[in-house]
Amino acid sequence: MTDTEIKKGLAGVVVDTTAISKVNPESNSLLYRGYPVQELAASQPFEAVAYLLWHGELPTAEQLASFEAMERSLRSLDPRTFALLDTIPSDAHPMDIVRTVVSQLGTFDETLHRPGGWTDRELDLGRSAYLFAQLPTVVAAVQRRRRGQEPIPPRDDLDYARNFLWMTFGELPSDAAVDVFRVSMVLYAEHSFNASTFTARVIASTTSDLYSAVVGAIGALKGPLHGGANEAVMHIFDEIGSADEVGAWLDRALAEKRKIMGFGHRVYKHGDSRVPTMDRALRVLLDESGDTGLAGLYETLEREFVARKGIYPNLDYPSGPAYRLLGFDTEIFTPLFIAARVTGWTAHVMEQAASNALIRPLSAYDGVDERHVPGA
Ligand code: ACO
Repeated sequence: MTDTEIKKGLAGVVVDTTAISKVNPESNSLLYRGYPVQELAASQPFEAVAYLLWHGELPTAEQLASFEAMERSLRSLDPRTFALLDTIPSDAHPMDIVRTVVSQLGTFDETLHRPGGWTDRELDLGRSAYLFAQLPTVVAAVQRRRRGQEPIPPRDDLDYARNFLWMTFGELPSDAAVDVFRVSMVLYAEHSFNASTFTARVIASTTSDLYSAVVGAIGALKGPLHGGANEAVMHIFDEIGSADEVGAWLDRALAEKRKIMGFGHRVYKHGDSRVPTMDRALRVLLDESGDTGLAGLYETLEREFVARKGIYPNLDYPSGPAYRLLGFDTEIFTPLFIAARVTGWTAHVMEQAASNALIRPLSAYDGVDERHVPGA
């Protein structure tokens, strides 16, 4: 063994600076480029938040109009992507499908085919906008395919959030429900050096390309300890069934030392800064739907788990039921997180490239002592 202090899971280790977002667990606050995320969620289209993360400033009206026009022009999928989707087993997990499609999108980018084209801020801004525009169309097509439905082409008269819901369901929910979806996208967009963003930065640090970084980040996001928790929350709700069952279910789950999905956070120990905003948004949908069963389960599990363990909900706890009420399949929740977080990931890829150092930590060896192959 070794005397070296091991920081398992890099807990508490500060590996670099970032100007993209500030997570302050003491004040339960989260700033994107200096702006409180609650203020952005209350006032900004998701397109403006993406622009802010990439450029450092909110867009002027002209800049926003020009960005929106570009985004709308990039939404349609290439026929080769539909052909690829046809080759993937229909019961594959949507996270694996979206990861595969993003990898394919990288192969369409001819600027990657020439040496030296991999890391270039102007090209990376274009690539980021391309992925931002394509991902809703991909996720909507994957959702519809699960239900045996044909894809619905994007509409360039609709903003990001409306178009996303239109392509998924072929109809638009109430303005209030569209707004809940927009708020969830804003809240999921960025969160400093979380596991998937750090993965993207590790890949970018080798001077690999942005698509590769996003593919790797999707792999990290899939796990239930990270983004996969929004899906896992709903599996837990389905397992429990109703508010009356929460107490007995929790007794069993805690006796089995199960992790209760949607609770806990590596950085926030007194509650996740994003939860109050998403909780309010969820309540809009609960009120609209009149689903008292889901509301009761949501409130009871939170109350009883916090009372027993003192561990608070994270963003995935209110967003899981919100996405169910919007009509998405449970397995599509984490792909929705991809569509939002691609903004933060790509901002970090560009920041990493701008002052790069290869990310290569050390390890302490604790295997067998040196030995020799017999006869060698
Ligand atoms: N359910 C039950 N116990 C928990 C939970 C939970 N959700 N979260 C933490 N604990 C307990 C652990 O069992 C551990 O107890 P012990 O000290 O008795 O062994 C203690 O709290 C510390 O937990 P760790 O897992 O060591 O803390 P860490 O900082 O590594 O964990 C994590 C953070 C991974 C998010 C954890 O809270 C968890 O697994 N939560 C459930 C998954 C989840 O919701 N992930 C979403 C994260 S947020 C996001 O991606 C938007």
